Amino acid sequence: METRKIEENVEAKRQSLLQRMSGALAASFLFGRARALYEENRLHWNMPLNKWQKLYVGTYMILRDYAQGVFPPVFEDQQKAYQAEMDKLKNLEGTTLEIQQTAVLTKPFWGSRTFLKYARGFSRLWGVIEGLGVRPASRFLELGCGAGWMAEFFGMAGYHVVGTSIAPDEVAMAQKRVAALEAKGCGGRVSYAVGPMESVREIVDGEFDVVYVFEALHHAFDWRQAIESAYHCLKPDGWLVLASEPNVLHTYISYRTARLSNTHEIGFSKRELIEGLKAHGFKDVRALAPRWNNLVSQHWIVARK
Ligand SMILES: C[S@@+](CC[C@H](N)C(=O)[O-])C[C@H]1O[C@@H](n2cnc3c(N)ncnc32)[C@H](O)[C@@H]1O
Repeated sequence: METRKIEENVEAKRQSLLQRMSGALAASFLFGRARALYEENRLHWNMPLNKWQKLYVGTYMILRDYAQGVFPPVFEDQQKAYQAEMDKLKNLEGTTLEIQQTAVLTKPFWGSRTFLKYARGFSRLWGVIEGLGVRPASRFLELGCGAGWMAEFFGMAGYHVVGTSIAPDEVAMAQKRVAALEAKGCGGRVSYAVGPMESVREIVDGEFDVVYVFEALHHAFDWRQAIESAYHCLKPDGWLVLASEPNVLHTYISYRTARLSNTHEIGFSKRELIEGLKAHGFKDVRALAPRWNNLVSQHWIVARK
């Protein structure tokens, strides 16, 4: 008992020493420029920063917050986390809600390089789904659909899709795509609904051939609950596809944007995703990517009900 107390004391002291060192480093001349960039970025979400500046500012914020005991982030209040995701576009500094909504509505057409990135993501997801033997006219459910571009693309490809997001204003924007699809002769295939993915089974009817989530599971307050809810939305033998979900280092790499936008940006380990899927009853769990787990590349995982 006594030894354990001493060990705990030593551990507490060691932690606080590390925290003190982090704080001193963050306050040192080495991070002077990072502090200035951070102060500017804090007031201007869209401030242009190159890759190295993002890394530099992010490292400063991690050191500073680790010293204060708030890094790594812990999310305990579900309602607060949900609200923050819903209010994201409203709360960004140095920009307007209108600018942000236009940006989200025009996704993935943000410029040639960004378009290529998202077009590749869509094409890869489509390829994965086709590789599972799923064909047009099948029913898809999308979790965390944002303003709904991917559901619209799948609708144009002949699938029936229900896109869902926690944010009512995103879904309101997504609804505009329903008329756009009709104009393109693809009406009646896509609809959108508001609700957290953790309880998605309560807001959609019927069963789906595929449930997919693209770059959004890591925003969930409780991703395990989201997986469980997705399981109940699938037909027997239906597929869940986790597409382009971030790897472990995302928690560090995206800490700057997470803090500035007040959203949930966490990275997953391949093992926790696979174990989580199996624990919720999924079989035939296949990790398609990355082939070599480098802790950075996004996860692409499929699992069958
Ligand atoms: C990075 S965005 C990705 C959006 C979309 N998949 C895309 O590619 O444009 C993350 C999305 O997850 C949504 N989201 C966050 N938490 C959620 C939750 N608990 N349930 C459902 N959607 C959520 C956000 O509102 C946002 O639409």
